[in-house]
Amino acid sequence: MIWPLAAGIARLLPAEAAHRAAVLALKTGLRPLASPPALPVSILGQDFANPLGLAAGFDKDGEAMAGELAIGFGHLEVGTITPLAQPGNPRPRVFRLPASQAVINRYGFNSSGIDRVRPRIAAFRAARPAAALGINIGANKDSRDRIADYRAGAAAFAGLASWLTINISSPNTPGLRDLQEAASARAILQGVQAAIAEQGGSCPVLVKLAPDMQPAAMLATIDACMEEGCAGFVLTNSTLSRPSSLRGSALHQAGGLSGKPLAGLAAEQLALAASHLNGATCLFGVGGIASPADAYARLLLGANLLQLYTALALTGPQLPGRILEGLARMMAEDGVARPDELTGQFSDAVAALRHSEDLWHRC
Ligand SMILES: Cc1cc2nc3c(=O)[nH]c(=O)nc-3n(C[C@H](O)[C@H](O)[C@H](O)COP(=O)(O)O)c2cc1C
Repeated sequence: MIWPLAAGIARLLPAEAAHRAAVLALKTGLRPLASPPALPVSILGQDFANPLGLAAGFDKDGEAMAGELAIGFGHLEVGTITPLAQPGNPRPRVFRLPASQAVINRYGFNSSGIDRVRPRIAAFRAARPAAALGINIGANKDSRDRIADYRAGAAAFAGLASWLTINISSPNTPGLRDLQEAASARAILQGVQAAIAEQGGSCPVLVKLAPDMQPAAMLATIDACMEEGCAGFVLTNSTLSRPSSLRGSALHQAGGLSGKPLAGLAAEQLALAASHLNGATCLFGVGGIASPADAYARLLLGANLLQLYTALALTGPQLPGRILEGLARMMAEDGVARPDELTGQFSDAVAALRHSEDLWHRC
């Protein structure tokens, strides 16, 4: 009862203030008690308690990691962290579109930078050595050598992260998305892999891509990344597109659109990548996941792991537990014992969602 009320009060705040309040609440232990069903997944050399994680951008500076795991998430992706601290874009820079269950943001990589964030993550890792923690790395807006920025992020975090995600798909840093072009992505991966090797360790490296890439370009980038030993892809980041169905006074704001209107696009990109890769690598399904049926459909389409952000911001901290309970019920109804048995059973995004929604109605 109290958590829907708290979420309602948070909705009265401006979006960025509500976001800060949510991070602080999780940091200070002000959160619901979650005991989600065990839905274990093993991938990337890591055991995950369940496939659902918190997407990058919610906890950019790694302030509330224990609290985020405590509300039920099986993994976290902290970041995007840039080498040097930077303030991001001027405010306001986050906008809710509640009628469309969406958010538009143009934060622009506000980050405390490696030197401030690394000790915090090192302390968390010492306390929680088995936690599934991805670290999402980016480049400074004014950097003259963006490849060097990704190398610096890898050098700083490879020894602490369960995996690193190279974010070359944020729409809010001018020119960043150009790095998704196959040759640039390859050069960044080579730099990152070299930085990890120099540390004498190993760490899986994933690449996060935009939903706005044309299919051929995305597959060319995926192939180049695979040749450089990439361990997987996070599909997808927010979109620059604006579907005609979008409603809300903020719909013309510049920035990346996330939440429900992104779901179809993100599912299509995931399905395309999964069919192309045929199980060869780890795929994170992200974008508009808000319900057990959304989560189930994304697993069917080939995701090994899932992430969400916007639905948490719009509905509150009980959401991960609810989605995981729903997933467990759907799996039982479908006669499936482990989430990885679902992975890749469908290749058509619409059919996967229809199947999942029918199944959910029977639960
Ligand atoms: C306010 C906001 C900030 C975000 N910041 C980042 C970021 O720093 N790095 C990143 O890789 N993705 C970032 N994202 C994108 C999310 O990680 C995710 O890919 C996207 O929002 C789609 O998932 P969703 O529809 O569940 O939110 C951000 C999203 C939102 C809404």
